[in-house]
Amino acid sequence: MEIKANDVTVKYMVGTPFEKVALHKINFTLRPSTYHVFIGKTGSGKSTFIQLLNGLLKPTEGSMLIGEKVVNRKTKMKQLYHLRKEIGMVFQFPEHQLFHDTVLEDVAFGPMNLGVGKVEAEKRAEESLSLVGISPSLYMRSPYELSGGQMRRVAIAGVLAMEPKVLVLDEPTAGLDPVGHIGMMELFNHWFKAKEGRSVILVTHNMEDAARYGEEIHVMYDGERKLVGTPSELFTKETKLNEYGISLPNTLSLLMELQRASGQALITDHFEIDDTVDEIVSFLRKDIENNA
Ligand SMILES: Nc1ncnc2c1ncn2[C@@H]1O[C@H](COP(=O)(O)OP(=O)(O)OP(=O)(O)O)[C@@H](O)[C@H]1O
Ligand SMILES: [Mg+2]
Repeated sequence: MEIKANDVTVKYMVGTPFEKVALHKINFTLRPSTYHVFIGKTGSGKSTFIQLLNGLLKPTEGSMLIGEKVVNRKTKMKQLYHLRKEIGMVFQFPEHQLFHDTVLEDVAFGPMNLGVGKVEAEKRAEESLSLVGISPSLYMRSPYELSGGQMRRVAIAGVLAMEPKVLVLDEPTAGLDPVGHIGMMELFNHWFKAKEGRSVILVTHNMEDAARYGEEIHVMYDGERKLVGTPSELFTKETKLNEYGISLPNTLSLLMELQRASGQALITDHFEIDDTVDEIVSFLRKDIENNA
């Protein structure tokens, strides 16, 4: 699904002494069927932008085009209802939104709320729960009897059960341990790849994730989108990124430091640990040969 921002400005607390411009005349298109990542320092407007995507917020000026749907200041909330079918949102600590008696009921609630019958909704719930790795033995438990990580998986299953086309993730792994973090990021990537036409829009402060999963990375700064590109296009612009308060992925910082300290050119357009290790090993080999 294509998403377009046309001269969109968002202001908070309009007409008060606390008025704040959170997005300033942003103009861009998000390609469909793409894994998008939004990065940018705190307060740069990332969460504000993604709240425009399912009608949680409306533009103060300008308009959004979300698939076929135009959203502007005058759009009625009721008209945005169907966007919730297509755009699935996962916020920080989504487990805070669990409220049903059983895990299965909680996950089936989303599709039922969209008008899907009970049998079909439960079938979808079971599929999503299996996708997020929650075993059938937990279906009849209260969500509150689960661990934090399990609760989060149940909440995410609830979003996936609505079968969205676009999955919007605002720092979805906050508070998870490193293994839980990787598991969850892999889960989203698996969902993204499982079916043609799906998109992910991830907001993160984790540059390793941005580099590993992002196909298009967007840099927000002070309410504007300043840069966009693939990981290799973007992370080679170190000076610019620093201006926008962004640091490089650790793997890349290590290679850049090694390059600076040794005066030797290294290949710095890959970010996976394995590739970085290969590059360092090849550097060390050359160093040994040179000194032999
Ligand atoms: N409900 C609100 N009322 C008033 N101002 C707000 C509100 N929400 C956000 N802001 C302000 O709008 C600006 C953009 O905030 P936003 O939450 O979009 O930033 P962010 O990029 O998501 O930051 P973070 O990385 O900290 O989550 C900030 O200056 C913030 O203080
Ligand atoms: Mg935010």
